[in-house]
Amino acid sequence: FLMYENISVNLSAGIAVLTINRPKQLNALNKRTIEEAHAALKEMESDNEVAVVILTGAEEKAFVAGADIKEFADFTIAQGGALAKNGQDLLFTLVEHYPKPVIAAVNGFALGGGLELAMSAHIRIASSNAKMGLPEVSLGVIPGYGGTQRLAQLVGKGKANELIFTAGMISADEAFRCGLVNAVVEQDALMETAMKMASKILRNSPMAIRAAIRAVNAGYTSGVNGYEVEIEEFAKCFGTEEFKEGTNAFIEKRKANFRK
Ligand code: CAA
Repeated sequence: FLMYENISVNLSAGIAVLTINRPKQLNALNKRTIEEAHAALKEMESDNEVAVVILTGAEEKAFVAGADIKEFADFTIAQGGALAKNGQDLLFTLVEHYPKPVIAAVNGFALGGGLELAMSAHIRIASSNAKMGLPEVSLGVIPGYGGTQRLAQLVGKGKANELIFTAGMISADEAFRCGLVNAVVEQDALMETAMKMASKILRNSPMAIRAAIRAVNAGYTSGVNGYEVEIEEFAKCFGTEEFKEGTNAFIEKRKANFRK
């Protein structure tokens, strides 16, 4: 993981922390940062040492303050389209469908592409100083990394419209009240809280968690019947060693060991 310029990855006890690391630019997502995050996630996807990924931003001020405005300010229509498409393909869709749980530890400003990145993650925990919003319309553009879709899924259409049209920022507490984040903690407890949740997840069957991610996402994929995907995924579990281990452990009154 050493060749990265704009991100860093730290792995310990099955938990990988991927930090967006451009603090002087408030961790804004330029092309290189998106490519590096993509490469790291692809590498960790097949790495058996990685069970859970935590996404966060370097230093205390920002998670990610958005797409890099300076990089796209002179783009054409075609370049704008490619920016959104490449970003979604390389990072945001990858995170949403990642076969291992991804927790966003939102440690400060999560704006535009930053909030969109947090929303792609499976779970969000925010520090109490975090500020969230989709300010794109104040720049004469709209969210392009999935924000119009995922914000409406998480908080409902009315609240999403309000946040997008006003370009305003909400506090971590308000984000918690509207279901945008799962929990709010003091900044110095943020990583510990995310790690604790990751450790809890780590005890469970990785196979079943992958299946659950596919089934939950199916409900948000147009043209796909989530209930049918759930039945298929449920059935497939029965053919696995992890299902045998989990059910046998229950019957034998012992703890299951899924990571032999
Ligand atoms: N892109 C590029 N640079 C950014 C950035 C961004 N999104 N956000 C912050 N920076 C840079 C600033 O330009 C500044 O750099 P310089 O020192 O070189 O001038 C540095 O980070 C520090 O930022 P500020 O001086 O602005 O810090 P502040 O405390 O005064 O304000 C802030 C903090 C309110 C977060 C402010 O930086 C801000 O409004 N940032 C932009 C937020 C935004 O509009 N995000 C949406 C981007 S568009 C998008 O994401 C499109 C999409 O969906 C695909």
